[in-house]
Amino acid sequence: MPTVHVLPHPVLCPGGMDFEGRRGTSLCEGMLRAGLAIEHACDMVAACATCHVHVRQGGASLTEADEAESDQLDNAWGLDAQSRLACCVRLGDADLVVELPRHTRNHAREQ
Ligand code: FES
Repeated sequence: MPTVHVLPHPVLCPGGMDFEGRRGTSLCEGMLRAGLAIEHACDMVAACATCHVHVRQGGASLTEADEAESDQLDNAWGLDAQSRLACCVRLGDADLVVELPRHTRNHAREQ
């Protein structure tokens, strides 16, 4: 099972966190199951971009974003080359390091 290391975020996980993901499930599901309250306004169907994350390590092991994910990512705050939608990322065997953006499309949550 992959280990997902989430870097500290001032609101959602100030100390950062690690959790064991389940292969084949989404990164968003894994975070929610681990108790991290990542936004997922469209209920994880790639239609809102509120689950935007930056995959800082391990991204090369993931399948590339499809057209629906890429289209939604265009709406994400702070988009960069490591941006993904957590609901679209399927966990594999590789460990990941994930950073949560300070803002989402829904709310400013900067501290
Ligand atoms: S939860 Fe809406 S795009 Fe991921």
